[in-house]
Amino acid sequence: MRHLISIKDLLPDELMSLIDISDDIETKPQKYRSIMGGKVLTNLFYEPSTRTSSSFHSAMLRLGGSVIQINEVQYSSVSKGENLQDTILTIGSYSDFIVLRSQYEGDAKIASEVSQVPVINAGDGAGEHPTQALLDLRTIYKNKETLEGLKIVFVGDIANGRTVHSLGTYLENNNQCHYFETYEDMTAELSDADVLYMTRVQTERGSTESYELTRDHVDVLSDKCIVMHPFPRNDELPRWFDSDPRAKYIEQMKHGLFMRMAILTSLD
Ligand code: NCD
Repeated sequence: MRHLISIKDLLPDELMSLIDISDDIETKPQKYRSIMGGKVLTNLFYEPSTRTSSSFHSAMLRLGGSVIQINEVQYSSVSKGENLQDTILTIGSYSDFIVLRSQYEGDAKIASEVSQVPVINAGDGAGEHPTQALLDLRTIYKNKETLEGLKIVFVGDIANGRTVHSLGTYLENNNQCHYFETYEDMTAELSDADVLYMTRVQTERGSTESYELTRDHVDVLSDKCIVMHPFPRNDELPRWFDSDPRAKYIEQMKHGLFMRMAILTSLD
């Protein structure tokens, strides 16, 4: 058994192997249709989610398993003061995987220390979101055919954005990123960018910034630059850009399904 708590736990070879498995799943879904037969995954979400929760749900169903969905913690014993450790021990008694999203950085690690079954970190506060990083890496790899030598411009609430923390950390730790610089104005950095990775303001973590991708920014982007966003989006990414061939954020969601199917088969 292994947990997926931080992107730091993943080596470059393991990423490539997950991409290979996800490709096999995408091209030969029938081969994987029942490999999770009789297994149960619990989605334990203490914070809102659309994509992470439903893609793990869909991934488990497509692998032949079943899902317990716990969103409304006010209806569970957490509302009676049950602590995270007891909740994890309970859910681990009934299921084979726990996908945990919580408000507090470090919760996924705490959960993994007591859990009898694999814990997957689906976002711990402003900490990490390793499965989002994996689907982001698949999106970049599929579009750019490499992860090396790319200029990736992250725009947004970098301090609080856990998707950027995980993706940036992976790239940095594996020597695919040589340096990070921060800028107040993105315009000058856009013309030679290979990837523009937009994120929203994390208002629930106290941020009040404001920024938006404008037509002037888009005019500067090269034809080969792909634009990504983990979603949900707010005003920073206008809908008029959706029909632009460089917009890859809807495709990015589909990469999430195949990558999460691959992750489940690898933790099993
Ligand atoms: C992200 C998250 O929850 O961190 N959403 C997601 O999982 N795709 C991004 C966000 O909420 O801004």
